[in-house]
Amino acid sequence: MEEECRGLSDSEIHELAMSFGEAAGRCEKAGFDGIEVHGAHGYLICQFLGTRTNRREDRWGGDLQGRSLFLREVLREIRNRTSEGFLVCVRISPEHDVGVTMSESLELSTMMVDWDVDMIHISCWDAFTGAQGDPGDSRTITRRFREELGEEVPLISTGSIWDGSDAQFVMDEGADLVGVARVAIAYSDWASEVEDDGYAPERPPFTPEHLIEQGLSPTFVDYMRRWKGFVTDGRQGT
Ligand SMILES: Cc1cc2nc3c(=O)[nH]c(=O)nc-3n(C[C@H](O)[C@H](O)[C@H](O)COP(=O)(O)O)c2cc1C
Repeated sequence: MEEECRGLSDSEIHELAMSFGEAAGRCEKAGFDGIEVHGAHGYLICQFLGTRTNRREDRWGGDLQGRSLFLREVLREIRNRTSEGFLVCVRISPEHDVGVTMSESLELSTMMVDWDVDMIHISCWDAFTGAQGDPGDSRTITRRFREELGEEVPLISTGSIWDGSDAQFVMDEGADLVGVARVAIAYSDWASEVEDDGYAPERPPFTPEHLIEQGLSPTFVDYMRRWKGFVTDGRQGT
């Protein structure tokens, strides 16, 4: 289905940035120590960053400075509505079809350090390979961010980590923290078990019974059937 889109007005952009700030304020009030801003995966902030989705000719578009202005405003609004010491992390996609490239993401990450972001989270999908857009550079994405940033800022890296040695590899590449999704869905105790040297969680596909046993609802199991190769009776492939 084709859907129409239109450019946001200036006041709509300000309103949206303010809403992010208000949401962060509510999180602090509710007792959270910090928040993670979602600037990855093609969501709104990522669309502002991307050259294919952001074709604005005003100050919210153009070069990286312009395309990152929305994120900067979001961060400003968050800082205005939360206390000093409230942690602000930003999750980005180092590369994305919306027109986000590795080189600009590296540049953005140094800009974010200047904006006092407390932590940067890179969503790599596969933390063991290099950037797809730079086939000549075999360094992992994590390593390239760490080299760009020095030790200045904590880095979280996520993508295809399955066991303790995977996690260690990504940390040796320069991550301070790793994120996991699929393995923790399949093994609810992963975070506490992974410290054991011999821990070797089996790989997908999983039976629906195993997933139910791990605490997934039937609706969640059904959703996971859409993830390639995850459920024995779901979408096939890797
Ligand atoms: C069921 C499921 C839901 C997800 N939902 C989100 C989401 O809402 N926001 C997000 O940033 N990433 C989401 N992801 C992506 C994960 O955060 C992660 O980056 C990705 O799955 C790669 O990590 P993994 O190999 O450990 O699964 C989701 C992943 C899965 C499996």
